[in-house]
Amino acid sequence: MSNRRGFLRQVAAGTAGAVALGAPALGAPALGRTRSGAVSIEDLAARARTASPTDEAFWEIVKGQFPLHPDLILMNAANLCPSPYPVQDAVFRLTRDVDQDASFQNRAKFGGLAETSREALARFLGASPNEIAITRNTSESNNTILNGLSLGAGDEVVIWDQNHPTNNISWEVRAERWGFELKRVSTPDRPTTEEELVAVFRGAMSPRTRVIAFSHVSNVTGVALPAKALCTLARAAGVASHVDGAQSFGALDIDLHDMGCDFYTGSAHKWFVGPKEAGVLYVRENRIPELWASDVGVGWQGAIESGGARKFDNLGQRDDAAVAAVATAVEFHEAIGPALIEARIRALSAALKEAVRERIPSVEFHTSDVPERSAGVVVVKIPVDDQRQLFNWLYEEHRIAGGPRGEPYGGVRLCPHIYNTMEQIDRVASAFAAAV
Ligand SMILES: Cc1ncc(COP(=O)(O)O)c(C=O)c1O
Repeated sequence: MSNRRGFLRQVAAGTAGAVALGAPALGAPALGRTRSGAVSIEDLAARARTASPTDEAFWEIVKGQFPLHPDLILMNAANLCPSPYPVQDAVFRLTRDVDQDASFQNRAKFGGLAETSREALARFLGASPNEIAITRNTSESNNTILNGLSLGAGDEVVIWDQNHPTNNISWEVRAERWGFELKRVSTPDRPTTEEELVAVFRGAMSPRTRVIAFSHVSNVTGVALPAKALCTLARAAGVASHVDGAQSFGALDIDLHDMGCDFYTGSAHKWFVGPKEAGVLYVRENRIPELWASDVGVGWQGAIESGGARKFDNLGQRDDAAVAAVATAVEFHEAIGPALIEARIRALSAALKEAVRERIPSVEFHTSDVPERSAGVVVVKIPVDDQRQLFNWLYEEHRIAGGPRGEPYGGVRLCPHIYNTMEQIDRVASAFAAAV
């Protein structure tokens, strides 16, 4: 009750937004948690062999691998994730190595380390190393695809209205420049079946359609599209499929050859808990020749001779430590297991929906309840007047870090990940109950 009064007071005074702009007063050491809970990757792998998605003792150990403030409930994976200690250590160690000796000779090893990261990503995503480029983020990967395809008057591209701006506004900019047509499709709210989603894209496609571009999991509603069915539909029509995987890379157990897409993109710094400003671009082998590179830097000839998607990560001087640490992030995922990580994320998001609904029966979720139609992104709307204030109040009063969502899918976005616990889910539901 006192919390509820606190929420109303903040809304009335309009202070919550202002407070959130200041430095977080989390009361923990400036550098975050000590690493007393950290275990080796080998130890983690041994424990994971017998762990289940709801084995809280195991997931507490996983949580201990992250340098989180002890009183923070971080549910902002759709936006940015922390890296576990092994990934941080790799970034710090290699950054120091470069800073100690920035000679060509000392940095020569980074070419090999980048290839190790490429191989690791290929293994992790069910692709071949030749099909993988290590970019800086999903935005860059998306833009490489839509800058690199040769499209013009008479062509059509079908996009989902729930795509991220880097996969929608960027298409609009390109369409204006090159004169092709865009068809923007909407899908039913809270979908349940695969067919009701596939039907929307099928209905929009015509003989002029060259590309369909969609988010695997929407950052707007959390709805997961049936990527494999949509890519199959596209392939049968000779249409290229562009899957934005920002909300599935690192969250779902992905096999790109099985999915059958032509292009897939992701950011290492989201669910993948990898280094910051590293990303992935997958280009299916037979599509590589037709896709032009956006950036041509020093080493272009070498990239062409080495072949494959290497021509898409010829981006000038890179943060070599971040690129190399991508391989460590893959090792971290492999230690726990991508299938177990997906199952844990699904268990947490299902528990979150259930716990909030139990306390607030009138709650609305923009995210589907059907497991296949959603993943880790949960967008929830509880009956309060100002969702933005609620988002701020959750952080200021309860140390719950989510994401704000504006209309038409207004509410708060919560993205539980492997560093969250069932006890935290319960605390989130109680905080929501205190706000209504
Ligand atoms: C679906 C989707 N695509 C692209 C992006 C852009 O990601 P980044 O800023 O890491 O490039 C986001 C970010 O939230 C996203 O959700």
